[in-house]
Amino acid sequence: LNESAIYKPTDWLAPLDWREVFGNDRPVEIDLGCGKGGFLLWSADARPDHNFLGVERQLVRLHKVDKKIRRAGLTNARLLRVEASYFVGKLVTDHSVAAYHILFPDPWPKRRHAKHRLFQAAFVDELRRTLTPGGAVNVATDDADYFAHIQKVMAGKFAENAPEILPAEAMTEFEKIFVAAGKTIGRARFIGNKS
Ligand SMILES: C[S@@+](CC[C@H](N)C(=O)[O-])C[C@H]1O[C@@H](n2cnc3c(N)ncnc32)[C@H](O)[C@@H]1O
Repeated sequence: LNESAIYKPTDWLAPLDWREVFGNDRPVEIDLGCGKGGFLLWSADARPDHNFLGVERQLVRLHKVDKKIRRAGLTNARLLRVEASYFVGKLVTDHSVAAYHILFPDPWPKRRHAKHRLFQAAFVDELRRTLTPGGAVNVATDDADYFAHIQKVMAGKFAENAPEILPAEAMTEFEKIFVAAGKTIGRARFIGNKS
């Protein structure tokens, strides 16, 4: 592909139109903090019937993932450089996302840094607002304290289910490192409660 997969909104204050981003109306899944893109690339290749958007704030990483998407010729993967909670809160319309994947989000283990964590009550409300009925939030983390925190802020708003079982090729770059180090990984698939 000659064209970059990095989407550049004309208006950074208005919700995105998925048809404009992807050129079709297939279900949209979002990888928040896609990092080096291993999961995004595997997903886009394995599920051509869905669209995948990788959200990442580090520009260097984003450019590397862009190259991989173009090399692989994937037409159902796009990238957006933006902060994840701003993205979900301001750039996503109601009930328009089939799934979020939040894989190994920065754990911010020090108490005084907890405010930097992605999972906060307001963020969880925005996940609910933007998911389609039955939509899922897939989460994985190697940090036991953060996993307990995530379960706590999701409780009442989402039902916790067993994680999706995926092949080894779907592992993210961070996951490979943690699995090789023998770390225990907290995983869950959260489905929104009916309100
Ligand atoms: C620990 S890495 C995990 C990357 C990838 N999901 C994986 O599992 O290999 C966290 C990634 O999320 C990005 N990130 C962290 N906080 C973010 C935020 N608030 N908005 C957007 N990206 C964020 C970081 O730049 C980094 O690439």
